Amino acid sequence: MNDYQSVHAEIDLLEKLYPYIIPKYHEAHDILVSMLDFAQTQDIRLADLGCGFGHLTKRIIDTFPSSVVFGIDKQPFILQRAQERLQDRLDQVVFYERNLNNTAWQKDIDHVHAIVSSFTLDYLPRERHQQILDEAYAIIEPGGRWVSCEFFRSEDNRVNRIFHDMEMAFIRSALERGEVTREQIDQLGKSSILRQDHFVVTVAQKMAWLKNSGFKTLEVPWRFLNLAIISAVR
Ligand SMILES: C[S@@+](CC[C@H](N)C(=O)[O-])C[C@H]1O[C@@H](n2cnc3c(N)ncnc32)[C@H](O)[C@@H]1O
Repeated sequence: MNDYQSVHAEIDLLEKLYPYIIPKYHEAHDILVSMLDFAQTQDIRLADLGCGFGHLTKRIIDTFPSSVVFGIDKQPFILQRAQERLQDRLDQVVFYERNLNNTAWQKDIDHVHAIVSSFTLDYLPRERHQQILDEAYAIIEPGGRWVSCEFFRSEDNRVNRIFHDMEMAFIRSALERGEVTREQIDQLGKSSILRQDHFVVTVAQKMAWLKNSGFKTLEVPWRFLNLAIISAVR
């Protein structure tokens, strides 16, 4: 396999396996979308930070058929798949290949009604994660929303331990049901996209950052051990 083929093989695997390697993947997306308190027919503008294959982006567009979503991701091949997933809605999505570690991610994106992000911001160094909340605050309309879901570190190590064990059990049961193969799991273990540094913070820390950026009505509408959705109003 040449380099091009191997990147595509890795992307194929990730696209297929996200729901089997990220616990509560669909449930988290359900809650993220439910927290967007807009009328279905409203012309809203949203940004999806780290949109990946466009699963959440598509859920948003299906729920709000008049919305426009700016999907941002740093991986061109992943964005290509997102574009394919949404090819019949390309008048409503604008994909940008941008790195969230760079403040230029927000170029041409303003006056948004909400910013969503799922399973991405824990890839950012803590200082950058905090800064991005200030940048988000600056481009969200007053009354608009921030809703994101990430992995967090619990202050109670028992929670971290249970989550780790459940993640292992989750993958084992996907193996037993034949949804994934041992070979795929081994390949995933080598994925350069998945194996990046993670900078997990505590929920309390993220809430403090949001408050510091100026957000109000901070809530944790959903939590499953180390996973949490945090919402806030601009
Ligand atoms: C685990 S995936 C989640 C994708 C999507 N939000 C979902 O729920 O399916 C994380 C995504 O974040 C992207 N990502 C990670 N770090 C990033 C960065 N610094 N800038 C932009 N995208 C980034 C990755 O390329 C990947 O597509």
